[in-house]
Amino acid sequence: MSAPATPLAPDLEAALKRLKLRRLREIAPEVLQAAKVQRWAPEELLRTLVEAEIAARDAANEERRLRAAGFPVRKSLEEFALGASSVPRATYDYLCSLEWIGAAENLCLVGPAGTGKTHILLGCGLAAVEAGYRVRYLTAAELVEALYRGFADNSVGKQIAALLRNDLVLVDEIGFAPLDDTATQLLFRFVAAAYEHRSLGIASHWPFEQWGRFLPEQTTAVSLLDRLLHHATVVVTEGESYRMKEARSRHGAAMKKA
Ligand SMILES: Nc1ncnc2c1ncn2[C@@H]1O[C@H](COP(=O)(O)OP(=O)(O)O)[C@@H](O)[C@H]1O
Ligand SMILES: [Mg+2]
Repeated sequence: MSAPATPLAPDLEAALKRLKLRRLREIAPEVLQAAKVQRWAPEELLRTLVEAEIAARDAANEERRLRAAGFPVRKSLEEFALGASSVPRATYDYLCSLEWIGAAENLCLVGPAGTGKTHILLGCGLAAVEAGYRVRYLTAAELVEALYRGFADNSVGKQIAALLRNDLVLVDEIGFAPLDDTATQLLFRFVAAAYEHRSLGIASHWPFEQWGRFLPEQTTAVSLLDRLLHHATVVVTEGESYRMKEARSRHGAAMKKA
C-alpha cells in the first residue's frame, strides 16, 4: 500500500486558493505523491496539474452555459432519426457543423406539429453549448413578454442587447398566438438587431406566406422576414407527426402482444 499523500503546506494551499486554482489544489497532494514515487519528469507534473485545472473549468463553464440556455428538455442532434424526417442529409450535416453560427446565419424551421422542429432547435442549441457557444432558448411568447416588459420601463434596447450577447438565440413556436402592432414592432426590432450579427434559430408551424396571420402589420412583417431569411438555412419539416407515428407503433406492438 502506498503512503497517504502529504497535505500541501498551508502557505501553498492559501496561495492556490487566492489564485482560484481549485481543482489543482484538490488533486495536488495525490499528484505530487505519484510524481515522487513514479519519478515523473518535472514538466509532466506541471502538465498534469494544469490540464486538470483546465478540464475542470471547461466543464464548469459548459454546465453554466447549459443552465443559462434554458432548454426545457435535453434533445440531441444524434437522437434525431433523420430517415424518419423530411430533412435532407446535406442540410442536417450543415446544421451539425455549426458553421452557420460562426457566420451569424439563421436557421428557420417551418412545418406542422410533431415534425421535429423543436427537437432540431434544441439539438442545435445543445451542440452549440458543447462547442463553447452561448445559447438562449425561449418561446416567441416568452420573447415578446420580455420585450414588452422592456417597452413598459424603457429598456427594450437593453433587453435586446442582453439577449444578443448570446451567439445563438432560439425562438420557438412563432405564430402560436397572434401579436398586436406593438409586439410586431418589438419582434422586428429584435430581428433587425440580430441581423448579420448573431444567429437566430426560429420555428413556426406557419409557412412564411402566412405570417400575416399573426403579424398584423404587413410592412413590418415583410421587413422582418426579409432580414430573417437573407442569410438563412430554411428547413421545411413535413409529413406525419412523429408523436402520432410513435403512438401508433406502440399501439401496433400492444395489439400484436395481445
Ligand atoms: N426525426 C425524429 N427523430 C427522433 N425524434 C423525433 C423526430 N421528430 C420528432 N421527434 C420527437 O417527437 C416529438 C415531437 O417533436 P417536436 O420537435 O416537439 O415537434 P414540433 O416542434 O415540430 O411540433 C419530440 O419528442 C421529438 O423528440
Ligand atoms: Mg415545437
